[in-house]
This record gives sequence, C-alpha cells and structure tokens, in this order.
Amino acid sequence: MCGIVGYIGPRDATPLILQGLQRLEYRGYDSAGIAVLQNGALAVRRDVGKLNNLRQMVNDKPLNGRIGIGHTRWATHGVPSSRNAHPHTSASGKTVVVHNGIVENFRDLRAELEADGVTFTSDTDTEVIVHLVQREIDAGHDVTEATRRTVGRLRGAHAIVVLNVNEPDRLVAVRIGNAGGVALGLGDDEMFVASDIPAILEHTRRMVFLESRQMVTLTRDAYTVQALDGTPVDAEIHDISWDPVSAARGEYKHFMQKEIHEQARSLTDTIRGRVDFQTNTITLPNLTISPDDARRIKRIVTVACGTSAYSALVGKFILEELTRIPVEVDYGSEYRYRDPILDEDCAVLAITQSGETVDTLAAMEEAREKHARQWSIVNAIGSQAMRVADGFITMQAGPEIGVASTKAFTTSIVDQYLLALYLAQQRGTLSREKAAQHVQDIARLPDMVGQVLDREAAIEALAAELYQYSNFLYLGRGINYPIALEGALKLKEISYIHAEGYPAGEMKHGPIALIDEHMPVLAITLKDGVYEKMLSQVEQAKSRGGIVIAVATDGDTLIAEKADHVLYVPDTPPLISPIVSVIPLQLLAYHIAVRRGCDVDQPRNLAKSVTVE
Ligand code: AGP
Repeated sequence: MCGIVGYIGPRDATPLILQGLQRLEYRGYDSAGIAVLQNGALAVRRDVGKLNNLRQMVNDKPLNGRIGIGHTRWATHGVPSSRNAHPHTSASGKTVVVHNGIVENFRDLRAELEADGVTFTSDTDTEVIVHLVQREIDAGHDVTEATRRTVGRLRGAHAIVVLNVNEPDRLVAVRIGNAGGVALGLGDDEMFVASDIPAILEHTRRMVFLESRQMVTLTRDAYTVQALDGTPVDAEIHDISWDPVSAARGEYKHFMQKEIHEQARSLTDTIRGRVDFQTNTITLPNLTISPDDARRIKRIVTVACGTSAYSALVGKFILEELTRIPVEVDYGSEYRYRDPILDEDCAVLAITQSGETVDTLAAMEEAREKHARQWSIVNAIGSQAMRVADGFITMQAGPEIGVASTKAFTTSIVDQYLLALYLAQQRGTLSREKAAQHVQDIARLPDMVGQVLDREAAIEALAAELYQYSNFLYLGRGINYPIALEGALKLKEISYIHAEGYPAGEMKHGPIALIDEHMPVLAITLKDGVYEKMLSQVEQAKSRGGIVIAVATDGDTLIAEKADHVLYVPDTPPLISPIVSVIPLQLLAYHIAVRRGCDVDQPRNLAKSVTVE
C-alpha cells in the first residue's frame, strides 16, 4: 500500500515528511516523492526506487517550507518510474496531490479532461484527481470545496491529501473506503496527516482518525472534520500509547495476524479495476491477449514454490473448468531441471509473491528459451518475475511482511480466477450469464472471508487444546486438497510441528496406519461434491481412535456428530471454497504457534523470499 505524510507548522516540513515516509517503509513501495510550498511556489522532488534516492535528490536540490506533503508509491496503474511517482501537480503548478487507492473510473475521467485540453504527464490513475481539483478551484471554489466536489466523481477507495498555493495555510485530506487510513496528528501549534500512526507517533500521541467518507481541513492550529455531504463531524481524539514498531502492526500482535485479517480488504483490492460489474467483463491491463491468440493456447503450465505452488494447484481446477485448457502444475525447483516440452502454443504461468524466488525465475527462463508465453502473478511491483514476463497480473495485496504467506495465497487464487474468466471471455467459451455468476461469486468473497475472521476466538480456543501435539494430518479432496497441503505448511513453518497434507482418497493406500489418538486429523469436509467421501474419511479416522477437527459448512449438524471439533465456514460456490476454507487453518496455525512461543513473523531457518537455490 502507498504511504502518505503531510505537515503544517512552524518547523521545516522537509525532514519531518521524509522521516515520516521512512516510518512507513514497512508498507512496501517502489517510488517516493515530496512537495513543499517554498517562497509561494510548489517545489516537488520525486524518484523511483527507495527513499535514499529521494533523500539524495533533496540534498542535491534542497526544498524548504512550513507546509508540505510526501508519498511512497506501491504501483498499481503505471509502472514504477519518476514520472508516475507522487506527488502529482496540476498543469498550472498551483495544486498538488498525493493519493492512496485506485480511481476505478480514471479512464473516463482522463478522457473527459483531455477533451477539455488537459495534458497528462503520467500513466497513473491519480493524476486525474489533481486536474479535477484544479478545475474546481479555477471555477471559484476554495480547496476544501474543490476537493469535496472532486471526490464525488471518483469510483473506488481513496485516501487523498491536497495542497494549493493560493491557500498556503491549509491541507485538505479525504478518506473513502479502505484504501489505507487517514490519521491526523495534533501537535503543539503544528498538525500532521498520515496513512498510518508510525509516521507521526514521535511528534504527537494525540490523533484523530478519519472514517470512510469523511474529509478534514487542517491549519497549523486547528482542524475541521466533515462528512462528504458537508455535515460537520465531532471526531474523537485518541491518545496513542503504542511504540512505533508495534504501531505498524496496529492492534495485532504479529504482522501475520494483521495480514490474515487484511484478506477481507485485500481480496477487494485484487478485484478492483479488473471487473466491470455492469458488463461482467474482465480486463487485465498488463496481460492482454487477442481472441485469436487466446484460442491458440493449447496448454498452461503453472510453476511456483511453497504456498504459491498450492495456490497453483487450486488454480488448476478453476482454469480448466472455465477455459477447458489443460493445466499442468509443477514446483519451480523441479521444473527447471526437467527439460520441459514446450512450444509457442503453451503458456507458462509463474505465481510468486516476492517475484524473486530463484527456482520460479529459473522455470520462467525455461519457458523463454522454449518460446512459450511467459505470464506471472506477482505481488511485489517491479520484481523480476513481473519485468521478464510477457504479461503479468498483480495480486494487489499490499506488502506481505510475515514470512508465512497468507493474503498473497488467497489473492493469487483470485488472480487465477480472473485470468480464467478473461481467457474464457477471449476464447468465447463462457456465456455472459455464466460470467456474471462467477463475477458475483467473487464479489461475495470479502464478506464471506470476513465472517470467518469474526470467528477467530473459537479457533484460538481450539489452538489451546491442540498446541502440544507433535504430529498433524491434514486431509482434503478435489479443489480443497491443496488447502490440506497449505494448512499443513502453515503449521509446519511457524510452529515447527510436523504436519502432512494428504489427498483424503489416498489414506486407505497406507497413511491410515498412522491414525491414533496422538495425531489430530484436520479434515476439510465442505458440503460439496466430495462431502460424502470426506464424511467416511472422518468416520474411518474416528474408528481408529483419531482426533478429528473438521472444516465444515455452516448449518451442517451431521459432521458435528462425527468430528471432535468443527470449524464452520459459510456455504460457498465450489471454485471459491478454498479461499474460505483456508482461513480457519491460517488462524489455527497462527494461534498454535503463538501458544508455543514461536517467532511467528520470522520463523527459524526461513526467509520471506528464497532468492538462492
Ligand atoms: C509460505 O508461507 C512460505 N513463506 C514459502 O513457501 C513461500 O510461499 C515460497 O517461498 C514462495 O515464495 P514466493 O511466492 O515469493 O515465490
């Protein structure tokens, strides 16, 4: 996610803003910039890359003033570059804006502005905001009213801060939806605004947090909060007692817990800007393929490692059902040495959160050498797997700090769903009605995931009963077999307990000999096409003295008679059921690891990105 910092007061804004951006680095970014009102004019510095590049630029060409705004950018529209970095300035140079979020209707707004004679200088969606604000100011409105009128035209979730040279004593900030917060820091004769607490905590602990659809006008000694309809708001002042590092985790004990809970929002971000809910069509801005080209694809090979490989196994079901293209899944570390059979009618899809996993990159290289198309699904903007691919889809999950991957897993499944719908749309193998149904199913995901996250307390209580066992077995079947693999990996990597994911139907071919009262069995037993089969697995495990924890569908009372514990999830359509069934397993692994006193965010022996063989 992007980071925003603004300041107004008696001190020099530049070092305060740069320091604040530094505190937000944990959010991940690929470019940064700052704008300060200097001698009555806006001075702007911005550069691609890390904050050090920006600091160097500021050292070479200083800018000083008492009011300013800064930004770290996590690119969604427009590649990481200095021209796409924020802040963005209006053509007259009188207004400047920083923005967190996605203007979903930016194409229409850009066309309207260009028809009005506006010349754009970037590829970003954000730039439409500053031109719209300027146009309202030129029409005679003050910066508060101009901003209010502008956001009324934007679709999507946003956090925006605006500065105009003709009103040098104020900043205006707006929050719409969940594109990152807007926190006001109330200082002594100075005010701060930021995306998140860590950026301003060292200056003040008195903070006001904008709710969605609220805006604020800030001067150095006052602030006025209002709803977007102009109604005044009496916002509560909070006294923040956190230390800066824990502030980055918010109210969560670990980044992993925070990221598990972020999934309700990150799944919304993943969908944003790709699904037109009016026409039920999919657009993938960085992976476009003509209908003829789409029809030529004979095979898809998905390569990935670890959790991303399990996402690929789920995606196989989705891609094959919707496109009828055969999909082969392989570990990057195996594929790279298999001398694979590929040609130009194959597409090799790499799934990688970091975009830097050496085995996955090597597998992509195989694809390139054999003239197959290279696609990638990545989270880290500007990463190698994004740059070398012929086309890519970003997970738009925001930075994933915990070593154990959670939100990248679920968002990469949604990306494969979007790819499958897009290919089917281009190949003409999916009716509009069916596409509409799938789009509606995906749109329900954030709410269903939110329902499971609300059940964390019951999962935490179960962890207290299970955390001392030394071996676990995870069973799943069909599209939820990969979830058994992923659930086992989560437990292994953060609690150091041995856990094995297994296809439930294979138990009778040997592993059932393992079952006894010393090894809990996690069985994913949803009301789907393999429910009866899974039910008999549960009975077989119970008849051998096993302890069974079932992940089951809300309202299923039969399973409660058979299993020792039941973790319920909402009833979901089959293709999205894995995204819901994995949530209790993520939370169970997390709370077991916490109970065992493990270092959840940095487990022993592990790295967030395996860039060496
Ligand atoms: C998952 O929790 C692990 N951190 C690990 O398996 C990870 O998924 C794997 O290393 C692949 O990483 P990538 O998605 O960045 O390529």
